[in-house]
Amino acid sequence: MIRSVLAITDIRPAYTALLAGRYDLHRFDLIKDTEAFLNETGDKITAVVTSARFGLSVELMDRLPNLEVITSFGVGHDLIDLEACRARGIRVSTTPDILTDDVADTAIMLMHAALRNLVAGDDWARSGKWSANGPMALTRSVRGKKLGIVGLGRIGQAIASRAEPSGLEIGYFGRNPKPVDYQFFDDLVELARWADILMLSCPGGAATQGIINADVLSALGADGFVINIARGSVVDEPALIDALQNKVIAGAGLDVFYNEPHMDRAFATLDNVVLYPHHASGTVETRDAMAQLVVDNLNAWDDRGELITPVA
Ligand code: 8YV
Repeated sequence: MIRSVLAITDIRPAYTALLAGRYDLHRFDLIKDTEAFLNETGDKITAVVTSARFGLSVELMDRLPNLEVITSFGVGHDLIDLEACRARGIRVSTTPDILTDDVADTAIMLMHAALRNLVAGDDWARSGKWSANGPMALTRSVRGKKLGIVGLGRIGQAIASRAEPSGLEIGYFGRNPKPVDYQFFDDLVELARWADILMLSCPGGAATQGIINADVLSALGADGFVINIARGSVVDEPALIDALQNKVIAGAGLDVFYNEPHMDRAFATLDNVVLYPHHASGTVETRDAMAQLVVDNLNAWDDRGELITPVA
């Protein structure tokens, strides 16, 4: 039975309202004196609602001695310390599967946008350069390219299943080979050397921190593209900016950045990168489904002491 709920952020107004209708809900983002709040109410909080973007710091978790459950909006849990949760018996849920299609679609959209130079093309038409200067410069075909997927989980597989019928050859890197027909690589540099397009769809966190480094980028080469819908932390960002500036690689399509939302401004000066503001799951349909699942997880915990989509 849940006592008080601490919401780190508003998941979506209508769904936060549902929570407020059923629980004693405290909005951490609206509390002015958080120290006084934690001293007075910290021990009453048994559930936290958060998101993949905000997670839950160990410092804050330590101030909630009776915390039982964390229900998070999003599939990534790199900002929640699962070891610390395990040690305290705190259960965690996320919102997997329901965002897979939108995220995979965004990955494919960024791939096409990067190779076909969509943003420059839009400007070419819009600004009048087309009528003044004639056709824009040629771009690159997607069909026939080799797509190296880093992390063939649910989202990686959904990207592969969209890429295959578009005529891309698929290889992947991961901890272990999967029962699929795609070529497996146990070495990232080898995958990058093989691939024309490196697609990042692995989880964030310590295990993948900075794995796309200067060596990987130079193996990808001057005709290669990086697409990232995973986490900014997966990439050594200064190395990526350097590779884009110096044409070590051809271009990139990026939905995620190291320091969100304060993206490194160097990206905004580059014309060989397509930028998206961490919005791969940002559709009305998917965000509603994610918010509903957060509410359902919390209610399932309150009713039956179980979660619908627990983190294993
Ligand atoms: C969201 C995400 O942007 O699911 C994830 O891990 O990063 C995204 O779907 C995020 O949950 C919003 O906070």
